[in-house]
Amino acid sequence: MSFHYQDRRLYVEDVPLASIADTHGTPCYVYSRAIIESNFKAYRAAFGRRRHRVCYAVKANGNLAILDVLARLGTAFDIVSAGELERVGAAGGNQQTVTFAGVGKTRAELEQALEAGIACFNVESIEELELLAQVAASRGLIAPVAIRVNPDVDADTHPYIATGLNENKFGIPMADAMDVYRRVASFSSLRVAGVACHIGSQLTALEPIVDAAKRVMKLVDSLAGENIEVDHIDIGGGLGIAYSDESPPAIEAYVRGICQTIDARYEIVIEPGRSIVGAAGALLSRVQYIKQTPRKTFAICDAAMTELIRPALYQAHHNVLPVNVGGEEQVVDIVGPVCESGDFLARDRSLAASSGDLIALMDCGAYGFVMASNYNARPRPAEVLIDGGEVHLARERETSAQLYAGEYRLGQAVRT
Ligand code: LLP
Repeated sequence: MSFHYQDRRLYVEDVPLASIADTHGTPCYVYSRAIIESNFKAYRAAFGRRRHRVCYAVKANGNLAILDVLARLGTAFDIVSAGELERVGAAGGNQQTVTFAGVGKTRAELEQALEAGIACFNVESIEELELLAQVAASRGLIAPVAIRVNPDVDADTHPYIATGLNENKFGIPMADAMDVYRRVASFSSLRVAGVACHIGSQLTALEPIVDAAKRVMKLVDSLAGENIEVDHIDIGGGLGIAYSDESPPAIEAYVRGICQTIDARYEIVIEPGRSIVGAAGALLSRVQYIKQTPRKTFAICDAAMTELIRPALYQAHHNVLPVNVGGEEQVVDIVGPVCESGDFLARDRSLAASSGDLIALMDCGAYGFVMASNYNARPRPAEVLIDGGEVHLARERETSAQLYAGEYRLGQAVRT
């Protein structure tokens, strides 16, 4: 029970959230090391002796402290940019465990990842394949490659985060995959390492995932028929979490479903992000004002769409909990100070909130801080990692001066 009430006060592990607000101010992201570790270990336990690799998806939350926690448990990493590759290194993670995904890797990023000796490039187009072959050849290196195929299955999630349909920009159509693998085999600077797919995020049903795995397995069998052997099958990430009344499969059931579908000869690779860190984080905020209008009551707090954009962007639901229980509940919209009506964090919630009260937006550990912006010149919040009774400052609150460092008034820029 990592987030829980004790004497009507909300705790994360052994620390009351109110004391974090006292020390580090608000808004502030708060993470539980225990939850992160228990989710990661659940994956490992579910695979048991089956050959596998868990590549934590850095995009979900790339804070160095979190990468460090996971690196110590022996995770591999899934990245989508050179920036994430550098983060893995800076956190003490092993860059040679990295899988590099994404439709738009630049030449510089390919070079950097090749030099770092990453484990696999998940290639998403013919042009990318050709560029990678050329970059590797020019360095006398051999790039390990998996083709990301698009299995054309409906993942039944928000359209912005569904990736496995023909209409999406991701992957190479199944029908073209055989040809593309023949191309890979024809380049001496490329090595076939595996095959990859990823059908979307916040998946709450097992069937589409198993369906995609079956289609990929069929491709792998056809490849073997032509003596093109892959070593691993990467099923991507995507396992959802319960934000409100969803009931996604448990990690054990998800892993079992994949293991039953993929032939035991192959190493199974997965790229989970949200299911490891999502429930481990809360966004702590203070109510500034209560404002009544003829139609609504607004709780205006010091967090906004700049700290947590998921409600504005995906109409996402995050539970809101009072940090200290008490007072009379009323129905409120929880909003921030940003100058847009899209700036809301939660709508029509029953909450006892008065100005000065602290609230916690729950399940913000994934795609929370990493999607934060500086709109309205708002410095990004602090992040803390809780470990039992210890509060570790994982990221200092940004300052306004940091936001305009690197900007120049007229005549100030020094040309190089
Ligand atoms: N692998 C690939 C190739 C991906 O594109 C993603 C997520 C993952 C792994 C990790 O997926 P996860 O296990 O976290 O679902 N910002 C959105 C989510 C975007 C997901 C993008 N890709 C949100 O806040 O819901």
